Amino acid sequence: MSDLVVDVRDLTRRFGSFVAVDRVSFQIPRGAIFGFLGPNGAGKSTTIRMLLGILPVSEGEGQVLGFDIRTSSEEIRARVGYMSQRFSLYEDLTVLENLHFFGGVFGLSGARLDQKVRELVEMTRLEGFEQQLAQGLPGGIRQRLALATSLLHDPEIVFLDEPTGAVDPALRRYFWERIAELSAAGRTVMVTSHYMDEVERCHDICFIHHGRLMAQGSPGDLKSRHLPGEMWQVRTSARAEVAAHLARVPGVAGAFPSGEMVRYLLEPGFDPAGPATALRASGLTCSAPEPAEPTLEDVFVALSRKRGTP
Ligand SMILES: Nc1ncnc2c1ncn2[C@@H]1O[C@H](COP(=O)(O)OP(=O)(O)OP(=O)(O)O)[C@@H](O)[C@H]1O
Ligand SMILES: [Mg+2]
Repeated sequence: MSDLVVDVRDLTRRFGSFVAVDRVSFQIPRGAIFGFLGPNGAGKSTTIRMLLGILPVSEGEGQVLGFDIRTSSEEIRARVGYMSQRFSLYEDLTVLENLHFFGGVFGLSGARLDQKVRELVEMTRLEGFEQQLAQGLPGGIRQRLALATSLLHDPEIVFLDEPTGAVDPALRRYFWERIAELSAAGRTVMVTSHYMDEVERCHDICFIHHGRLMAQGSPGDLKSRHLPGEMWQVRTSARAEVAAHLARVPGVAGAFPSGEMVRYLLEPGFDPAGPATALRASGLTCSAPEPAEPTLEDVFVALSRKRGTP
């Protein structure tokens, strides 16, 4: 089999006349951590649902694990793990009962299932919660149980749709450690997220906006190819005013508050001191400009601007 676990071309999904996913093409090599990044409504979940054959494609084609997404959804679903954004657990079953139930759905039974459940209880740190009903479990535990249920059948690829959507930083870190572990063990992971900082850990990232693929590459590629200039920053107590003012200074391609700083993209050929001079001339105070390490957030702000949307 080819080393591409996912290979899609011109994937399109319409709901009536609305185009939710618009001619999206990408490939995921075996073992990669593939980040699918975009704001609310960008088309992330719709794309995953098409890859799994849950939602028919309107146009385009693709394979998952070599199976045609238009005709072989059963074969695909039997081989992939899926933690949906609004996953459902059986509320009146305990943690262990949920794991056994989902294991059965994937055709596991007997000693093999028991062994797998033990492994996953350990991996997802569910010890102590085994006999509790899903109903009433704290959010973080539910999230870990959902991850465990998606891994019961040792899937070659796992699709995690916003696993860190509403979880605290410790659990986010925990999820990313598990993702790295899965990838190190040769599994492929496709993960969607809103958080720019965490997708720095992906090997490859697609940024999707209004259903369209805006950019694709490794975090390093995206920073070097899609940032038309250098990032600078100033410290100020009037961040909103300074950002608004900077955005109008010639040579500044975008400015936005970030923490205690205002970051801005300076187009090539412009004097880095220019924006601060312009600020002071208008009575705003700020620190001397300092060069800033580019982040993926900078890339996405720049890309979103190109589309003319905030
Ligand atoms: N069944 C449906 N019928 C009509 N429109 C839909 C349907 N499912 C999704 N959409 C629309 O398609 C667009 C993409 O939705 P999708 O859920 O894929 O976005 P997303 O990137 O996953 O967003 P989020 O980050 O909020 O989960 C949205 O505008 C959504 O309202
Ligand atoms: Mg979604």
